[in-house]
Amino acid sequence: MKIRSSEITSEYTYLSRRKFITSTTKLMLGTLLVSSCSDSDITTNTQSQIDNVSNNIDSLPDKLTTYESITNYNNFYEFTTDKERVSILSQDLVISPWTIRVGGLVKNPRTFAVDDLIKIFDQEERIYRLRCVEGWSMVIPWQGFPLRKLLDLVEPTMDARYVRFETLYDPNQMPGQKSNWYEWPYVEGLRIDEAVNDLTLIATGIYGKSLLPQNGAPLRLVVPWKYGFKSIKSIVRIDLVAKQPESLWMKAAPREYGFYANVNPKVNHPRWSQKTERRIGELQRRNTLMFNGYEEEVADLYTNLDMTTNF
Ligand code: MTE
Repeated sequence: MKIRSSEITSEYTYLSRRKFITSTTKLMLGTLLVSSCSDSDITTNTQSQIDNVSNNIDSLPDKLTTYESITNYNNFYEFTTDKERVSILSQDLVISPWTIRVGGLVKNPRTFAVDDLIKIFDQEERIYRLRCVEGWSMVIPWQGFPLRKLLDLVEPTMDARYVRFETLYDPNQMPGQKSNWYEWPYVEGLRIDEAVNDLTLIATGIYGKSLLPQNGAPLRLVVPWKYGFKSIKSIVRIDLVAKQPESLWMKAAPREYGFYANVNPKVNHPRWSQKTERRIGELQRRNTLMFNGYEEEVADLYTNLDMTTNF
C-alpha cells in the first residue's frame, strides 16, 4: 500500500519528538546544578551574578575557568591567530543591531533580530567543558537557548539532513578575512540529529553577562562534545541543507579536520596526540575524556559510525 506523503514523518520531526521524550529522562546534571544554584534572573548583567556562578562546578565536577581567562584567551581567526590579542582587536566589532537568517530547506524561512530572539526564548544556563583541538580546555558557564527551539520555529522540510552555519563576512571589521589562507566566511555544520540534541546550544552570554566580541557575540554555537572549532562564532546565517556542509577547516586541511570532530582521546590529530589536555588555569595535564565527558548524552548518535575514518 502506498503511504501518502502527509503520513511520512520528516527526519527532523521524528528526531525532535524522540528528543522530547529522552530529554525529560536524561536531564544533564550540570543543568540541574546551575538551576538550583542561580536563584536570580540570569539575563541581567550584574557582578553579583558572576560571583554566584563562579563558585559553581560542572557535572564532573570541575571548577569553572575564570571570566578573565575565558575572555582573554581566544581563537577567532577573523581577527588574529594570536589568542591573547583577539580580545583587543575584536573590541570594535558592531554587534548591535544584528540579524540572523534561518532558511534553506524549511517551510518558514525567517530573519530574526538578535534582541527579539533573546526575548522569544528563555535564556538557560549551561556549564560546559570546551576542548580545543589544539589540546587546551576550559569550563564555561554559558547562557543561551537550545538550537532545537530555533529550528522548530522555521520547520525543516523532509529533505533537511544537515545544518550549515556561517559567520559574518566583513573584512573591514574582521581584518583576518583579508588573508587568503582560508576560504572565508567561517562555515561549520552539524548532522540534524546532532543539531537537535539537547546539549547543542546557541549561546548569548557567559557568566551572566552578554557575550563579548572575542567569544563570538552576539550569537555563537556551542557543541560541547566536539572540538571547539565546531562552535562557530558571530553567526549571521543558518541553513537547513540536504548534503553534508564543507567547513572552513575541512577545506583548509582535510586530512587534519573532519566533519565530525568528536572529542576522542583514541584518535590522534595527525600532528599530535589527543590523549591529554591542558586545562587553562591548571599546571598538570589531564586526561581527555571520550566525547569530552558527554558520552552518556551523545554516544548513541554514533553507534554505526567508524570514528577513526570519520574524525
Ligand atoms: N568561530 C569563528 N568564526 N572563527 C574562529 O576562528 N575558532 C574556533 C571556535 N569558533 C573560531 C570560531 C575555535 S578553534 C575554538 S577552540 C573556539 O571557537 C574558541 O572559543 P573561545 O575563544 O570562545 O574560547
